[in-house]
Amino acid sequence: MRQLLYISTAAPGAVVDTAGLLAISVRNNRRDGVTGLLWTDDRRFLQVLEGEGAAVQRVFDRIKADLSHRGIVVLHDRAIAVREFGAWEMARRGPADSADAFDIRMRHHLAAASPTVRGTFEGLIAARRAA
Ligand SMILES: Cc1cc2nc3c(=O)[nH]c(=O)nc-3n(C[C@H](O)[C@H](O)[C@H](O)COP(=O)(O)O)c2cc1C
Repeated sequence: MRQLLYISTAAPGAVVDTAGLLAISVRNNRRDGVTGLLWTDDRRFLQVLEGEGAAVQRVFDRIKADLSHRGIVVLHDRAIAVREFGAWEMARRGPADSADAFDIRMRHHLAAASPTVRGTFEGLIAARRAA
């Protein structure tokens, strides 16, 4: 089992259709046995993908070719014994979400994540909140 974590930034001027992205990803990732989590505030993306090695590579190759974001940096790419995310989910802090409600959702998503993965998500969220 492979787990890949990357960060990226929306392309300048790109308006990312997060609802459309969620629908496509849920459909494809379910089909391909890929689980994980995508966090976005519509400007930055932090995504963990996990599954069979070749399946993770195929989805990541499509993601890398997507012109709606750029500056893709892989933070880690490692073998894991068991999945840390049971499903593929997306967490977006929309304008109507309170920080508390969002924190509770993220805690739920990250409940089984390793300290490294959880720390990376929490660090980025704190940095974006402080920006
Ligand atoms: C930040 C970001 C994350 C994405 N995550 C996924 C994903 O987890 N799974 C997926 O299939 N596509 C994802 N996409 C969309 C892909 O880039 C691509 O548009 C899509 O896989 C094409 O699917 P289709 O061939 O079924 O139309 C993501 C795109 C972006 C910008």
